Amino acid sequence: MERIREIYLDRETIAARVAQMGAQITRDYCGKSLYVVCVLKGSIVFCADLIRAIELPVQLDTMSVSSYENATVSSGNVRIRQDLSHDVAGKDVLIVEDIIDSGRTIAALTGVLRARNPASVRVATLLDKPSRRETEIQGDYVGFTIPDAFVVGYGLDYAQRYRNLPYLAVLETE
Ligand code: IMP
Ligand code: MG
Repeated sequence: MERIREIYLDRETIAARVAQMGAQITRDYCGKSLYVVCVLKGSIVFCADLIRAIELPVQLDTMSVSSYENATVSSGNVRIRQDLSHDVAGKDVLIVEDIIDSGRTIAALTGVLRARNPASVRVATLLDKPSRRETEIQGDYVGFTIPDAFVVGYGLDYAQRYRNLPYLAVLETE
């Protein structure tokens, strides 16, 4: 069985950082509008908070992808389970992710969206685990850089559970 070991980031700490990220994004895209891509399902909670901290015209869309587990498959491969509802050509796209771990998912997704000729593509991620990276990819906006621990809550799951925790916690498995 698994259990929650400790609160890693409490809701106040997360809220303060998300507000800072929203303010930074608002400054960086001043005078533009944003096409926000919420990567399902892990980023739902983060994305909901982040867009409310962005003072720009925002269009919100969702996408569901799964990366191939097989390590022999190139990291550019991603399976699109549910695609965007609109064309992103000419748009300033901001991909919102929960966590960049190996980087495979976001590297592949960024590649897929860049091929559709948007004006720009950037990535906002709540969490970053750089010690586990297997690709060159980096987040443009990173909430928290964390060590190699498995975290749940605030949208992140373990076997589809714990997404509703209002804080981030370290999961202990036995
Ligand atoms: P990547 O392709 O290895 O970067 O995988 C990123 C995905 O792995 C995230 O979108 C999460 O779904 C999942 N993931 C990686 N680390 C964690 C974690 O600590 N907790 C929950 N999910 C995680
Ligand atoms: Mg995920």
